[in-house]
Amino acid sequence: MIKHLIKGGTLIDPSRGINGSYDLLIEGDRIKRVDEEIFEPEAEIIDAKGLVVAPGFVDLHVHFRDPGQTYKEDILSGSKTAVAGGYTTVVCMPNTNPPIDTPQTAQYVVAKANCYGLCRVLPAGTITKGRKGVELSDFYSLKEAGCVAFTDDGSPVMDAGIMRKALELSVQLKVPIMNHCEDDNLARGAINEGEVSALLGISSRPPEAEDVLNARDCILAYYTGGHVHIQHLTTALGVDIIRHFKEKGAKITCEVNPNHLIFTEEELLRSGGNARVNPPLRRKEDLEALKKALSEGIIDCVATDHAPHAPFEKGRVDSAMPGIIGLQTALPIMLNLVEEGVLSLEDMVRLMSANPARIIGVEAGTLEEGAPADIVIFDPKKEWVLSEETNFSKSKNTPLWGKVLRGKVICTIKGGKVVHKDN
Ligand code: NCD
Ligand code: ZN
Repeated sequence: MIKHLIKGGTLIDPSRGINGSYDLLIEGDRIKRVDEEIFEPEAEIIDAKGLVVAPGFVDLHVHFRDPGQTYKEDILSGSKTAVAGGYTTVVCMPNTNPPIDTPQTAQYVVAKANCYGLCRVLPAGTITKGRKGVELSDFYSLKEAGCVAFTDDGSPVMDAGIMRKALELSVQLKVPIMNHCEDDNLARGAINEGEVSALLGISSRPPEAEDVLNARDCILAYYTGGHVHIQHLTTALGVDIIRHFKEKGAKITCEVNPNHLIFTEEELLRSGGNARVNPPLRRKEDLEALKKALSEGIIDCVATDHAPHAPFEKGRVDSAMPGIIGLQTALPIMLNLVEEGVLSLEDMVRLMSANPARIIGVEAGTLEEGAPADIVIFDPKKEWVLSEETNFSKSKNTPLWGKVLRGKVICTIKGGKVVHKDN
């Protein structure tokens, strides 16, 4: 059996409270041993001196656009981008064409990803057929085909009756129901309702569009006992709503997109369409509240909402398609928060691995002996620029394009196989 020995790194495994200098031995596709000093003459050595060794990151929110819009991204380019960002497990959203509302489409995603074997790509199935918000999908057959969550992401579920039924089913199926919370009747515009929308004279989507659906879903989770996962939380009031219902014992988890932790609506004045995303970039007060919630553990995980679009779909703010790519920029953004003192490095790793893994109940996010050897090795200080040379995505829609970033993935290992190496 092939053996790899990762030597001399700072190993961080929040699932077991490990943070220190340890070696790690991989045998085949599993972690064999973690110890202060390991000698194994048969193993291939991976030198991790000066580097951090952590569980491969888990991203609950990516758009790989496959099937249907593979000019933006596909399962191969998406997988390469994921492992370059340190991710070994991703959940891909079902707003594809066709949507992931049949077992066949879910199986296509799983099979294609397995074929490449770079990254574990787990599909989310739709909550409703065709993402139309009218009729529930067949959760049972979708789960059997590999779906680990249900969501109509991009099209919020507006019918509270449907959402309640979905949450009731989630109790039986033990699968989270994820919602993109923005009430369609309020969120009609392009950017946050505020100073920038007034300045640009652009139609807007107010924060209450998000808060009302967030509150509704928390209430439904409270009454049904179902597990709701609030996607890409962006508002200060949203944090209070989630805290309140968590304290009441409702089964609620939530995620934040790193871009909402560094950019406010003012970024639209600099980056135009590349800063357009749903829910939109908001005010400084919201950003600060999200950071605080992250440090207090109210926010459960970081999810990139990697949303690739072609250059011709971006351009002007008011007509740009919403979405920002994020798989390769998440680690630098999060390391910046560590530098600022918002989070410890250990908390950052937990929010990007153990916590998201627990939300979908997969065997990942840990460096425990016997666990799958899914590992990221990164240099927290290395500077680099996101450019044509370093980008793995088919798209480049991010305000961080061409910017100097700090923190780079040096090596990613998936199931004992080196799937990415920094050159
Ligand atoms: C997402 C996309 O591009 O698919 N865009 C985004 O702005 N987050 C869909 C969505 O979540 O609205
Ligand atoms: Zn969304």
